[in-house]
Amino acid sequence: MGKTVAFLGPGVILLALQYARRRDQLEALEGRAPMAEAWQGVGRPRNLEAIPGGVRVYFQEATPGRGQDPYLEAVFLGEDLLRLTWFPGEPVPPYALAGGTPPAFEPERLKTQEGYLLKTPRLALRLEGEGLSLWDGEERLLRQESYPERLGPAWRHRVRLVPGERVLGLGERAHPLDRRGGVFRFWNRDPGGSYGLGEDPLYLSVPLWLSLLHEGGYLAFYENPADGFADLRGEEALVGFWGGPFRYYLIPGPLEEALARYVQLTGLPPLPPRFALGFQYARWGLGTRREVEEVVEGFLKRGLPLRAVHLDIDYMRGYRVFTVDERRFPDLGGMVRAFREKGVRTVLILDPGIKAEKGFPPYEEGLREGVFCRLPSGEVFLGPVWPGLAAFPDFTDPRARDWWGDKLKGLLELGVSGFWLDMNEPALFAAWGEPTFPKGVRHSLEGQGGDHLLAHNLYGLLMARATWEGFRKHAPLSRPFLLTRAGYAGVQRYAWAWTADVESTWEGLRTTLRALLGLSLSGVYFVGSDIGGFSGNPSPELYLRWFQMAAFTPFFRLHSARWTRRREPWRFGDEVLEGARWAMELRERLLPYLYTLAYRASRKGLPLLRPLFLQGGPYTEEAFLLGEALLVAPVLEEGARAKEVPLPKGRWYSWEEEGVSQGPAWVRLPAPLGRIPLLVRAGSVLPLLEGEGLTLHLYPGEEGAEGLLYWDEGDGEGAYRLDRFRLQRVEGGFRLLWEGEGGYPWPWEGIGLKLFGGRLLRAWVEGRVYPAWEGGVRLPLFQEALLEVAE
Ligand code: GLC
Repeated sequence: MGKTVAFLGPGVILLALQYARRRDQLEALEGRAPMAEAWQGVGRPRNLEAIPGGVRVYFQEATPGRGQDPYLEAVFLGEDLLRLTWFPGEPVPPYALAGGTPPAFEPERLKTQEGYLLKTPRLALRLEGEGLSLWDGEERLLRQESYPERLGPAWRHRVRLVPGERVLGLGERAHPLDRRGGVFRFWNRDPGGSYGLGEDPLYLSVPLWLSLLHEGGYLAFYENPADGFADLRGEEALVGFWGGPFRYYLIPGPLEEALARYVQLTGLPPLPPRFALGFQYARWGLGTRREVEEVVEGFLKRGLPLRAVHLDIDYMRGYRVFTVDERRFPDLGGMVRAFREKGVRTVLILDPGIKAEKGFPPYEEGLREGVFCRLPSGEVFLGPVWPGLAAFPDFTDPRARDWWGDKLKGLLELGVSGFWLDMNEPALFAAWGEPTFPKGVRHSLEGQGGDHLLAHNLYGLLMARATWEGFRKHAPLSRPFLLTRAGYAGVQRYAWAWTADVESTWEGLRTTLRALLGLSLSGVYFVGSDIGGFSGNPSPELYLRWFQMAAFTPFFRLHSARWTRRREPWRFGDEVLEGARWAMELRERLLPYLYTLAYRASRKGLPLLRPLFLQGGPYTEEAFLLGEALLVAPVLEEGARAKEVPLPKGRWYSWEEEGVSQGPAWVRLPAPLGRIPLLVRAGSVLPLLEGEGLTLHLYPGEEGAEGLLYWDEGDGEGAYRLDRFRLQRVEGGFRLLWEGEGGYPWPWEGIGLKLFGGRLLRAWVEGRVYPAWEGGVRLPLFQEALLEVAE
């Protein structure tokens, strides 16, 4: 049982004990029948028939007469997308997919000596006696799997792993990025107030893996939300699910493209409101309006750029969702408006559990409308969470989603800008065993019906969907900002994710980086962590190192548990305060770059955080890329004042300092306490906010440099602009070309330029000369500028 429960005292401990006992009884009574038989293979292919986009293959059942004979459907949904489905299976609505199933694509079909071959220019599938294999367009073997085995409704199969192959992804994991050597469960789980390296599973699992092979690799996505596992300890991976459909998609590398393809299939992350890319603050335990105002003032009076404040469960009356404690938070709407005038948005936490209390309107209403999850007996299921026993909306029921969405109306009318969705694994307080619903709890699954074993991993995804839909409906002029703890494939369509209750240790920091990159490699791009770790008291040094890393992750938020010491940046002395200020100010300056990355993610499905190997660099956990241009090498060790990093190929500029490093090579970068090592790829143009204006930082490579800038009002769906900058080498300097599109007017006075790796003397625009000053120049808007550089 977690620290959180212990913290709440004897009443909650008693509930947690009672619940654990009840859950065990219910599972013994109403769970799925124990599986006595052994796993059975599907045998060898028997015969085969063509279907649109592929084939249906019938297998010899090992035990004739046991029921429906198994068969496989292999269908191409594009030249680089293959879907395999094994029957019989338990169907689940396609919640993970964004726009439904893409149309079938006709492959070439060939009979081979031993079997059958289906082929497109990018991908081939071979079906043979013992198993199937996947090949890329250059006829390189990508994957070999044996035909699967069944046990009741469960399916599993073995996938060969070749020496040197790395397996990445699987969602949020407290494990090295290369998952080989580990055993993982697909089952969203709250570790209970604190976790460290090795804890599995965590809150957000995604049954997707990327295989990194010597030359390329591929992506496999199992579209099955049921309880599942991946055992990667041996030379064969064993992957299976205890129910649900045994269906998976295969996409050939390069991995970055495969990931983008997967994100197009399961949904592009929408463009966030711009404030969300700024620094955000949260703290569990701020018990009054006054305390929250003091913190906000604390940031503003020190000139620290704060863009949003999150209210944890403290704002509610007795932890009842959809209430505000008027005594401690009088006129919440007034506070929200006053903050907004100062440029600070407000985000509210929401937990799914509705206090089961006679006379509490949301509970009574939910009962009346029949939106809560039920036991097989028909009784509404109750489980203990913060407010005591609570009922839980069944988000797999469209009526429950609408009901929940409408409950947001009042909060949105207060001027709230976003919601923070917590406890949606779903999490309960249980003294032992699984801290969640009994597996027999019933769910609607869009009316088809099913149990919690099937719906569990969908709970967070669909709570996010319900909240998203309610937000769109009741605040149609704003872009929703949602943060979620749990999720499943497709959750990126609705919400950002954070890595929650990690311990406040150096290992916790390293674990966090792994969890963040793992999420990013699983299609969940907008991610961040609790700066300093959630559950303990970081040393000033750990705090600052975490702060610096977080400034280069998409979601940049401070948060901590109520039993820990306060964490505002000014509480650790001047050196830490100045270090945090540097990181926060740099983050603000980088906003145009970050916003452009967010735009590209929303259009193309490209990740923000990228391990170096995703772009042809070495496999390492010591550094990552933010977009294509910035290489971030966070300091993850106490006392370290330098950082060794294996640089990818190419030239890399030191951030705002003299010096260029040449890769591939290991380099040692200085890392004084106040700075995080940061490099810029030669060939980049970075747009930055500086002073009141926009300045381009130019980092020429051999071929010049290129950069993009997306900008708009920051919220809503109005006009935008997209500016493309191209720097070309010419005699004596450079030519800079600027092409803009879109109806949003350029919002700054002219444009600034700063050149790195050379001394800018002056610039010409339409025959007029503009002398450089301190290495930079400000110009009027142009289509072509000439830059003269000193030898
Ligand atoms: C959970 C969340 C944490 C939050 C706390 C109280 O532990 O992960 O972020 O502060 O609940 O709501």
